[in-house]
Amino acid sequence: MSLYDNTTLESLIKPDRVHKDYYIDPDIFELEMDRIFSRSWLIVGHESQIPKPGDFLTLTLAKQPVIMSRHRDNSVHVLFNRCTHRGAKICNKPSGNSRRFECPYHGWAFHTNGDHAGVPYPQRYSNGFITDGDFDLPRPPRMEIYRGFVFIALNENVPELSAFLGPMQRHIDNFVNLAPDGEVEACAGMFRYRFAGNWKIQLENLNDLYHPMFTHASTTGEDGTQFRRQGAEGDEAGKVKLLKENASLNMEWENQIIGGHALGHTYMERFPMDKENSGPVFSRYRNSMKDAYGDAAESNMKIHHHNSIFFPHWSIQYMTQHIRIMNPISVDCTENIIIPLKLKGAPEEMWYAALKSNNNSHSPAGMVMADDMDAWTRCQSGMQAQGNDWIVFARSIGEEKIDNNGSFTDFGTSEANARHQHKAWLSYMCGNA
Ligand code: FES
Ligand SMILES: [Fe+2]
Repeated sequence: MSLYDNTTLESLIKPDRVHKDYYIDPDIFELEMDRIFSRSWLIVGHESQIPKPGDFLTLTLAKQPVIMSRHRDNSVHVLFNRCTHRGAKICNKPSGNSRRFECPYHGWAFHTNGDHAGVPYPQRYSNGFITDGDFDLPRPPRMEIYRGFVFIALNENVPELSAFLGPMQRHIDNFVNLAPDGEVEACAGMFRYRFAGNWKIQLENLNDLYHPMFTHASTTGEDGTQFRRQGAEGDEAGKVKLLKENASLNMEWENQIIGGHALGHTYMERFPMDKENSGPVFSRYRNSMKDAYGDAAESNMKIHHHNSIFFPHWSIQYMTQHIRIMNPISVDCTENIIIPLKLKGAPEEMWYAALKSNNNSHSPAGMVMADDMDAWTRCQSGMQAQGNDWIVFARSIGEEKIDNNGSFTDFGTSEANARHQHKAWLSYMCGNA
């Protein structure tokens, strides 16, 4: 039985601060798996990660080992990675292609849609035990694919996916509609790494505009040392520019709109750019978009957001064209999966630029990611200190513009988005979401 009743949970979240146990107590973590991750739609990945029959990938979501596979009829399946004989994990490879899955322990076999394919030496089982038994690989109670993104729910009674996403469904559409072919494709693999910190620290960080000028001083500072290192001398095309030259000034960040919607989803609007996109590559892109969408092309080409966070565990980053899955492993360990996505039908040059940008910023040693992971790890270890139990999120409190549907907006270095996540967390944990 949990040590946490609703009154105790409520005592952890104050309007302008949260108790450090929110991040460091293993009992809280276990309760989160049960009350948040088992009641939400979780993203597994994108179906283009497994393009051919027999392709599969494995991962652990909310402590559940799963396989995403493509069957010979081209259907996509999400299966629990657990043999129906004695429970062994049947597949240890992160990804691959296989005609069927065979458990390494005693050789029970399964088709790539999860159907039981047979057992070695069946004659020692009683008549009908194997043939009449239900030994297919178990699967999560719900699975849905929206615009190529594959979701599961660990509980039958979650709301419909579209209701769960609410206005955030448009954020997915905005991203996929940037592609002239109306599809994105994961054809460049992924980054997969861990940091020694609680999953919520990163969630709060992705919409945090208070930190970049300090944590990322070497990229966002006025001399932009790290970004300037990109590309050889005189190679303007080889340089990565995400921000205005003077974006380090506080006031530049303060112009940014941030906001959120019901169930803890949050977003940050698009960063200011040096100049609007132009040039021959972009003209080709514009032409493809006009061919595909006609009058809707200009609005479909517009990037509305810098990033969007789908509570509890994934995000879209638009400029670098990736999704990020944030997998809680334990109370102080989180796995990050960064999947770059190609805009199908757009010029190849745009894809290479996006990949380069991802490599520079979001690889484990990328300029931005290494800074962040250091900061998050410091939070996790600093919170062990005695003497002060509270983590402060008071910045701009009360300035949010809130509507009647659970949505709000604020701007700049406000900590409103993190406060919004804390409220959603409490609502889930107390059984009200
Ligand atoms: S545990 Fe899988 S075959 Fe025995
Ligand atoms: Fe950061």
